[in-house]
Amino acid sequence: MPESPIRKLVPFAEQAMKDGIYIYHLNIGQPDILSPEVSLQAINDFSDKVVEYSHSAGSESYRKGLASYYQNLGINVDYNNLIVTTGGSEALLFALNSCLDAGDEIIIPEPFYANYNGFSISAGVKVKPIVTDIKDGFALPTIEDFEKLITPNTKAILICNPGNPTGYLYSKEELDRLKNLVVKHDLFLLADEVYREFAYDGEEHYSILNIKGLDRNAIVIDSTSKRYSMCGIRIGCLVTKNKDVIDTAMKFAQARLSPPTFGQIAGEAALNTPQSYFDEVSAEYVSRRDLLIEGLNKIEGVICPKPKGAFYVIAQLPIDNADIFTRWLLEDFDLNRETIMVAPAAGFYSTPNKGINQVRIAYVLNKESLQKSIDILDAALKVYPGRLF
Ligand SMILES: Cc1ncc(COP(=O)(O)O)c(C=O)c1O
Repeated sequence: MPESPIRKLVPFAEQAMKDGIYIYHLNIGQPDILSPEVSLQAINDFSDKVVEYSHSAGSESYRKGLASYYQNLGINVDYNNLIVTTGGSEALLFALNSCLDAGDEIIIPEPFYANYNGFSISAGVKVKPIVTDIKDGFALPTIEDFEKLITPNTKAILICNPGNPTGYLYSKEELDRLKNLVVKHDLFLLADEVYREFAYDGEEHYSILNIKGLDRNAIVIDSTSKRYSMCGIRIGCLVTKNKDVIDTAMKFAQARLSPPTFGQIAGEAALNTPQSYFDEVSAEYVSRRDLLIEGLNKIEGVICPKPKGAFYVIAQLPIDNADIFTRWLLEDFDLNRETIMVAPAAGFYSTPNKGINQVRIAYVLNKESLQKSIDILDAALKVYPGRLF
């Protein structure tokens, strides 16, 4: 199993904290946004005398609630088209294990959410990365580029929309191109849509479940972690109209007995979260993103495209190796006893030597902390021995 690029700096951060340095954690997608009141209340109100298993696919009332959530988005699914999982993480595992056999290949635009590597390895699946470029904001590669990678072993394409770590939001036109490709080559299209609600600048998020003619190909991975800022609730789901995939995923679901009971209670209650919550959260992320992008691009030698979704950016820095730089930030640098922790981007690529001068920054802290973080990065780059200017 590959080590998590997001967590491998933790020992250095722990040492810095022991040394009395304050760290701004921009390295993981743990938002500081409050979870919805309705969910916390539902957990408080739990009065059963036994915390029981639920149905392996998730409690029927929650699945019916989730089906309504999708129907309200114009996605025509019913509760038999989904399985509640232990986070989006388990939905990814179920999807990979259900759709691909050991030795099969999956094409994934990179940089991609680093755990796709680990999940693929544990399913015996080979990742074929297709490189996207910071110069065009990490847009979808051409269909010809995809076709070059397709072999008899290729069974699926996996996209993350909007993307972690790029924040890239796919257009309808890009998704239509992918549709034609997967239909032509009879592939599964797996879409990780856990950041669905985080689409900015008036842009709409298009779900692959909305694309006509993809019922057998489309599998959606979803999660409550980011939507409701409830990462610890550990509830997600797998959604598809392909009954064979649901039937297979159910065998995995039965093997692990049931998704967490308290998580489902919180998840079901969260379906009643008022729209005002999402409007406020979205406005907050947009203002954080704008502050971060402006601040980063003002630093000499830093390039950072402005993404339209999720809450991550990939920034290219004027350094030769971000692994060394991010460790240096924790071990050897501080500005008034404060420093930042960001994720070296190489771990989000599986092509060797890609992204080595890039970092991923999660704008999960408030604007004051973000501004301080930008100032720290600016000061650090001015004195970093390995800087390239
Ligand atoms: C793109 C993406 N997919 C899936 C997950 C897994 O989320 P969880 O298991 O918390 O639902 C994450 C978590 O950060 C993510 O960023």
